Amino acid sequence: MSHGDIREKFLKFFEKRGHKIVPSSSLLPTDPSVLFTTAGMQQFKPYYTGQSDPMKDFGSLNTASIQKSMRTSDIDKVGDESHLTFFEMLGNFSFGGYFKKEAIEYAYDFVTKELGLTIDYVSVFGGEEDIPADKESEKIWKSLDRNIDIREMGRSDNFWGPTGKEGPCGPTTEIYVNGVEIWNIVFNEYYCNEDKSLSKLDKPGIDTGMGLERLAMVAQKKGNIFETDLFEPLIQLLPGEMNGHDRIQRIIVDHSRAAAFLISDGVVPSNKEQGYVLRRLLRRVIVHSHNFGLELDAVREIFGTIAGNYGRVYPELDKEKIISEFDKENEKFQKTLKGGLKELGKLNTVDSASAFKLYESFGLPYEVIKEVGGNKAETLTRSGFEQEMKRHREISRAGADKKFGGHGLLMDTGELKAGDEEELKKVTRLHTATHLLHASLRKILDNDVQQQGSDITPERLRFDFTFSRKLTPEELQQVEDMVNDAIKKELPVIKTEMSYKDAIRSGALAFFKQKYPNRVTVYTIGPELVEGQNSSTRTSSEPQPNSSEPPFSRELCGGPHVSNTREIGKFKIIKEEAVSADVRRIRAMVEGI
Ligand code: ALA
Repeated sequence: MSHGDIREKFLKFFEKRGHKIVPSSSLLPTDPSVLFTTAGMQQFKPYYTGQSDPMKDFGSLNTASIQKSMRTSDIDKVGDESHLTFFEMLGNFSFGGYFKKEAIEYAYDFVTKELGLTIDYVSVFGGEEDIPADKESEKIWKSLDRNIDIREMGRSDNFWGPTGKEGPCGPTTEIYVNGVEIWNIVFNEYYCNEDKSLSKLDKPGIDTGMGLERLAMVAQKKGNIFETDLFEPLIQLLPGEMNGHDRIQRIIVDHSRAAAFLISDGVVPSNKEQGYVLRRLLRRVIVHSHNFGLELDAVREIFGTIAGNYGRVYPELDKEKIISEFDKENEKFQKTLKGGLKELGKLNTVDSASAFKLYESFGLPYEVIKEVGGNKAETLTRSGFEQEMKRHREISRAGADKKFGGHGLLMDTGELKAGDEEELKKVTRLHTATHLLHASLRKILDNDVQQQGSDITPERLRFDFTFSRKLTPEELQQVEDMVNDAIKKELPVIKTEMSYKDAIRSGALAFFKQKYPNRVTVYTIGPELVEGQNSSTRTSSEPQPNSSEPPFSRELCGGPHVSNTREIGKFKIIKEEAVSADVRRIRAMVEGI
């Protein structure tokens, strides 16, 4: 049974039973509290809580998918027989359609009848704290097979969730075949709140997950996941010198596969968040290739084979892009790799401080230091290394703050920082430009565009907003033109104070992540000034905004801003990029900065 057969059997099985087949979502989730998509249920979170309507979106209360997933928590276990960073998860889901009986019956039928496998045993939730034992699942299992071995387990084994800070969660039942857990069936009865308390969900739901690689291993009767047809073609590409070095071989193929998928979902190597994970994966591949004399072309061939083998299922896999990101990272890392390994070789023991130094000066990732360091790095731990890294980040942040005047900043609103009068003038111009940019994005792309973050330094503005794809060059040009147009029209910027309610009623945009007081300030930009209309009610002969036109922009904001857009100068977009699957980032500057 090939992995292709397993995919097909799984999706057909659930499609026949009224499930809508939904494509995998990106490895980069919309939930900002998690780095990666770690499970199939993540894209369905709003359906469990009733926020979204599955009938409207899927025409069914039940769905099934094969989801690209990434678990960095398992990175240190990669190299054994069953752990991976990237894997695919087969899952069926129900949002108020069916519950325990059907979910267990489907799983039992699929494993024993469709795949013809024998279940060793199943586990059920045995109860812990205030959450009762799951006697119902036990009964359902017994009704399917009187002699089935059922083991009760606690919360650490048989309770799922939530992903991110909060979300659906509940007790699970798990199926074991040939000694490995292959299927996790979650009964989402609760919503786990941010403070860890549980609330009952209105309608309980089903969330299941079965790793394709482990399933292929038991279905293909292999001793480990790397002998399955998912990995065998990749292992074949490794040189003879690596024979016998199973762990290294497994790390190379796992990390290459994960890197290929991350790059294809828009991640590029960097020193933070998703980019930092990608960098570590690529650098570990590079170090092992270097140590075993694996040629660059051979690594490229591994990437090419991954893109080729998976291309039919995941058309986003872009061989050229994967190889070009790998090449770029390789070129960067080669400059320091040898020096780093030499330095590591000289050390007698490697502790957190020396490991961090190796990382900072030579770019050696933790995993490499730990591995290549061998006995010398015996006491080095990931948490120790990360603490050291955190300490250094705090020191360098303190250094950056000092740069702004030593005695503190002249202005630091969180959004904008300025050390002296000169810098304050610059950030003020960029701040008003940010409002124009926000309004223009909504007018050109979509009125639903929401601000996600804004950061202004004397050199540039950086604005994050919700939007689910890359902007085209034409769109970027239109946005830039619209901002410059508003600048040329010399629009007035007017500050008013009002109640929060009135501000929202007047159409002012608020930044949802912020809590506002009852009285707020609102900055309105435009419309254009006109001479003397409504003169009967005006006492001044100054030009006034044309009150019959809507303003160009209106936002709740603490300021400061310029008083007329002409003070901004010429606006220029420097870069547009992804922050996560549904959040984009624009960097821009204004003339003379
Ligand atoms: N969400 C469950 C898991 O990933 C099914 O194990």
